[in-house]
Amino acid sequence: MLKTSTADAAETRSTPATDQAIAAAAADLRAGRLVAFPTETVYGLGGDARNDSAVAAIFAAKHRPNFNPLIVHCADLRAAKTEATFNDLAGDLAARFWPGPLTLVLPRRDGTRVSLLVSAGLPSIAVRVPSNDIAHRLLSAFGGPVAAPSANRSGEVSPTAADHVVASLPHGVARVLDGGRCAVGIESTVVDLSDGVPRLLRPGGLSREAIEAVTGPLAPPNGAADEAPRAPGMQSRHYATRAPLRLNAASVRPGEASLAFGADAPEATGAQLNLSRSGDTTEAAANLFAMLRELDRPGIAGIAVMPIPETGLGVAINDRLRRAVVRPT
Ligand code: TXA
Ligand code: MG
Repeated sequence: MLKTSTADAAETRSTPATDQAIAAAAADLRAGRLVAFPTETVYGLGGDARNDSAVAAIFAAKHRPNFNPLIVHCADLRAAKTEATFNDLAGDLAARFWPGPLTLVLPRRDGTRVSLLVSAGLPSIAVRVPSNDIAHRLLSAFGGPVAAPSANRSGEVSPTAADHVVASLPHGVARVLDGGRCAVGIESTVVDLSDGVPRLLRPGGLSREAIEAVTGPLAPPNGAADEAPRAPGMQSRHYATRAPLRLNAASVRPGEASLAFGADAPEATGAQLNLSRSGDTTEAAANLFAMLRELDRPGIAGIAVMPIPETGLGVAINDRLRRAVVRPT
């Protein structure tokens, strides 16, 4: 039987990371497709960080139950500086440890085209320059920022070989570049420098001691002092709109802006945007943060959000919407 192949339906296959395969992977990224590639830590599932749809597809392929912010991979420090604002300490850490298994959380740079979905709506962005040669060649060939969480289904352990990726993500990945085993084998260490106090958000492939030799003592994650450590994405800092959100709205009240989903949007006199007219939760995820920001204008009474189904990325969308209703402290 003839098998038609769309990016989603096609079976994931790995291929040796030849020059030709790397060039093809860069073309995949340009076309908005997902590519798995080796880094020195673990294999990443990469998509064009500036492409909302590609970023949403990453969450969909991993079956992530919520939108944790993703790490943006850059070819070099110069490239990272086009997306994030570096202070002196960030510059020192980058000079000492990049390329390598260290991720820096920094303020998003004005004018960065990196998707808000990558930052899960936060004003910060996580950047890293990997040292793996194949990763470096892919990033250079692509010439832009690549959002990449570990290339495994959510809840499974991170992949350190190409066949782990194929087993964990049998569909939805255009190409897996096989670069053998990952040298480090655990994820990068994540340090938050976005608010003046350097914080260790995630221990990883670069030791705390090595980092503290440059930064001095690292503080715990924000909010961890008074509460048990929370999973990433559960931190008290998260995106909230200024105008109150009213979820599962069936109609739009006077003065409200509205965020619709699906074919039958309610009548509205104020601003209305539609997350996905066709009712596609992956498309909706791609639009979510940008549309909330666009609607969140001074003077509106609130934002009415139509019900989003608890299927596919709808679960993550609803999780984020509920967090945006509960204001951060
Ligand atoms: O080793 C690694 O870092 C691998 C390889 C593929 O590079 N990547 C990886 O990415 O582990 P990911 O997206 O799974 O890791 C995201 C981590 C989360 O723990 C998240 O909390 C943190 O980075 N993070 C990302 N952006 C953040 C932000 N804006 N604020 C706070 N934390 C952030
Ligand atoms: Mg992971």
